Amino acid sequence: MKNVLVIGGGGREHAVCYALSKSNKINKLFCVPGNAGIAQIATCKSLSVFDFDGVYEYIKEQNIDLVFVTPDDPLAKGMVDYLAQRGVRAFGPTAAAARLESSKAFSKEFMIRHGIPTAKSEIFDCATNAKEYLLGAEYPIVIKSDGLALGKGVIICADKAEAMQAIDDIMVNKAFGDAGNRVLIEEFLVGREVTVMAFCDGTHISIMPSSQDHKRAFDGDKGLNTGGMGAFAPSPYFTKAHCDEFMQRVALPTVSGLKSDGIEFKGVIYFGLMMTDKGVKVIEYNSRLGDPETEAVLPLLKTDLVDIVEACIDGTLDKVEVEWQDKVGFTVVIASGGYPSNVVKGYEITIGNLDGVILFHAGTAIKDGKLVTNGGRVFQLSCIADDMESARKLVYGQIDKIKFKDCRYRTDIGRV
Ligand code: AMP
Ligand code: GLY
Repeated sequence: MKNVLVIGGGGREHAVCYALSKSNKINKLFCVPGNAGIAQIATCKSLSVFDFDGVYEYIKEQNIDLVFVTPDDPLAKGMVDYLAQRGVRAFGPTAAAARLESSKAFSKEFMIRHGIPTAKSEIFDCATNAKEYLLGAEYPIVIKSDGLALGKGVIICADKAEAMQAIDDIMVNKAFGDAGNRVLIEEFLVGREVTVMAFCDGTHISIMPSSQDHKRAFDGDKGLNTGGMGAFAPSPYFTKAHCDEFMQRVALPTVSGLKSDGIEFKGVIYFGLMMTDKGVKVIEYNSRLGDPETEAVLPLLKTDLVDIVEACIDGTLDKVEVEWQDKVGFTVVIASGGYPSNVVKGYEITIGNLDGVILFHAGTAIKDGKLVTNGGRVFQLSCIADDMESARKLVYGQIDKIKFKDCRYRTDIGRV
């Protein structure tokens, strides 16, 4: 029996804790920092996810055997390296492996080196050269800052004027700070977007059901890009033929490419894919679970998550049969009124009786004994069902039982 610690405090981490709480291998579950919902199933400790020393002290104090590092920032800053150096079993990629996500230039060069299909792209360190390139480019075009930019570093530009402005914003005015010291200027891919996440032990890879998120703030894919307003799994646009092609041309070459580059990736690889008329292409890698895809996908997991995580750390993932329910996973984000721009926190929340759904907390806290909002995405209401229509009925039939001032959600999640 193990004491397990999850790092992070959003809806995705609640879904991880939920899956772990079903394990019969766990003695006690902990979460840093967690949130009000996670606190119902795990002991939460208020520490920064960047306070590696503080987290390590807590690990020793609570006799923690296994750590699941979920968010991108502590991974990119080397939390797994730090813990492993101190003999702690930590699940997640090292900082070097997490560069698949934390540097878009690195991941693009990696894909080119290993023949993995992706959008054509040029990398620039200097605004003048980038602008010169834009003079002769085809539009629309995609401009990406190299480093992590809270999911906002990608700008799709309809014409030359927008593209020039994007270069000024990213490289000259430093809209995303040092993340924009280098940019990628990339071919605009057309097709359906699909997410495939996979467990990886450095040698073997085991893919999860495909999924799809809805990134724009409002119905009909209108409004600003957000961290995601809902998701479902599996995606009807990821056929068996796509899956075979993906395994042969993307997933396996990614694992063998990492290995041959001397990078051992143990953790979750997130493949952001475009189903183009020229086949499956990689838009991006993330080196972690997606949010909100995880809240739709993980409830479908049948296998004990502790067994999978242990096998990834030990390099024995091929010995575990990872099984998933053959059903639809579905999740809708309940957000604060102004999300993603102006988020007011601290509104009191009431929750009626919910039935047959799973409520994941994202931005919630307890203040003066009351449950209050504490972020842009406040909840994810998830379910599993036989088909999409039943899933939509189940979630949308109960979502209004969750009430706080100015709360809102998209009504068209799963309508594709
Ligand atoms: P990324 O952070 O690379 O995932 O980009 C964020 C979003 O921008 C993606 O989910 C796509 O919707 C879009 N995007 C990124 N790169 C491209 C591309 N080359 N062509 C079309 N859309 C893209
Ligand atoms: N849902 C997209 C992401 O987690 O990056």
